[in-house]
Amino acid sequence: MNVESVNSRPTTVAGTLREPPVAGGGLPLLGHGPQLVRDPLGFMARLRDDGDVVRIRLGPKTVYAVTAPHLTGALALSPDYIIAGPLWESLESLLGKEGVATANGPMHRRQRRTIQPAFRLDAIPAYGPVMAEEAYALVERWRSGQVLDVTTESFRVAVRISARCLMRGSYMDDRADRICADLATLFSGMYQRMVVPLGPLYRIPVPSNREFNRALADLHLLVDEIVADRRASGQKPDDLLTALLDATDENGEPIGEQEIHDQVIAILTPGSETVGSVLMSLLLVLTEHPELADKIGDEVKRVVGDRPVAFEDVRELTYTANVVVETMRLYPAVWILTRRSVAETDLGGYRIPAGADVIYSPYAVQRDRRSFDRHEEFDPDRWLPGRGGQVPKHAMAPFGVGNRKCPSDHFSMAELTLLTAVIAAAYRFEHAPGSDTRPRIGITLRPRGLKLRALPR
Ligand code: HEM
Repeated sequence: MNVESVNSRPTTVAGTLREPPVAGGGLPLLGHGPQLVRDPLGFMARLRDDGDVVRIRLGPKTVYAVTAPHLTGALALSPDYIIAGPLWESLESLLGKEGVATANGPMHRRQRRTIQPAFRLDAIPAYGPVMAEEAYALVERWRSGQVLDVTTESFRVAVRISARCLMRGSYMDDRADRICADLATLFSGMYQRMVVPLGPLYRIPVPSNREFNRALADLHLLVDEIVADRRASGQKPDDLLTALLDATDENGEPIGEQEIHDQVIAILTPGSETVGSVLMSLLLVLTEHPELADKIGDEVKRVVGDRPVAFEDVRELTYTANVVVETMRLYPAVWILTRRSVAETDLGGYRIPAGADVIYSPYAVQRDRRSFDRHEEFDPDRWLPGRGGQVPKHAMAPFGVGNRKCPSDHFSMAELTLLTAVIAAAYRFEHAPGSDTRPRIGITLRPRGLKLRALPR
């Protein structure tokens, strides 16, 4: 394992470790909280000027922010940092405690072994027909001149593709719509609970809290129904749900019902929120840079001709894929990541105490002028063969690094490239009245409320 700059036994270098500098601009008592709330992206992006590791004060609490790419890599690769902290606690009502996204240690390793085969590179082509079918269903539903609510459309297709590919079966079709409606309510409610942590006030039975609780209960019920139906069918298709139902623990015993349940949610939920968010950013890019959309259209014509785009074409749609990658560089759906240290650690010569909350921002790292020429400019060609190598290690990691790296990187790239090709070849877009392109900074990063008019090519 590569643990650059990390020494998990700081006692061997006792006395030489420095305290990270405190980030500039903090206020007495409030610390950096107001800056973080007012402009989280700008605040995180400015931190590198203060140091490679800096301390942030949030009221009485100190949080450690890692800003240099080699150290974000070291953090993600070190066994001294685990998944814990306020962000994960706020997600627990949704994700549970026994799913792969929140488990740590041996349980996490075992769970990754169970789910990994469904995401392996050689497993992805089998999902191709569903991805293509969903991409065409999307563009065929749109009418010329129709104003699209891009948020709804993007989440819908993302949920349907994850659910149908990973938990196969025709019964998924109706349920995918229900999952979609529930997740939309839950994601906006979770965001509110994260930025305005009013604790017990969220238990008061006002309509918004009731709606949140109803969606949460329905999602949990849905997952139980999916599991029960699959068992009742007696069928064992070669998919992720079968792998979860057949999984055994360290002692060779079948895993418990709660773990199966949490696993299904922990895979469906991040899968839908992230892909949906990137697709919204992609549609914004296609609208604001019509010349890129035209080039994608040309590439599709050259590679595919007049037949429909198929999964097998994705490998050759290199320009389209580079637009997807560049979109994820500038608008990473997962814009912030957190860890907690389990021991006192040396991170790049800085002392990180045991039990510290540590954060880093793929958004800030991927827009750093020290790592990227014309760092704010959208340039898909920076990912042409031979040029991507100029990027420092770990400076571009929209799927994360290390043992928590997204298992779905190949799946998601194939899905997003196919969707982008099908959409850009069929339509161009312009903003409709009320379209709100400002970033919405929640659990994920995405445009706040895109309303686009679809115009056929
Ligand atoms: C983890 C990004 C799509 C399932 C992660 C992490 C990132 C990420 C950055 C690492 C979190 C960390 O280090 O703490 C993305 C992006 C996606 C995407 C940008 C789409 C463009 C998906 C999809 C699925 C999925 C489609 C499933 C269908 C997961 C799971 C984890 C994860 C289960 C937790 C892994 C673990 O903790 O071991 N994702 N993801 N993701 N992602 Fe994704």
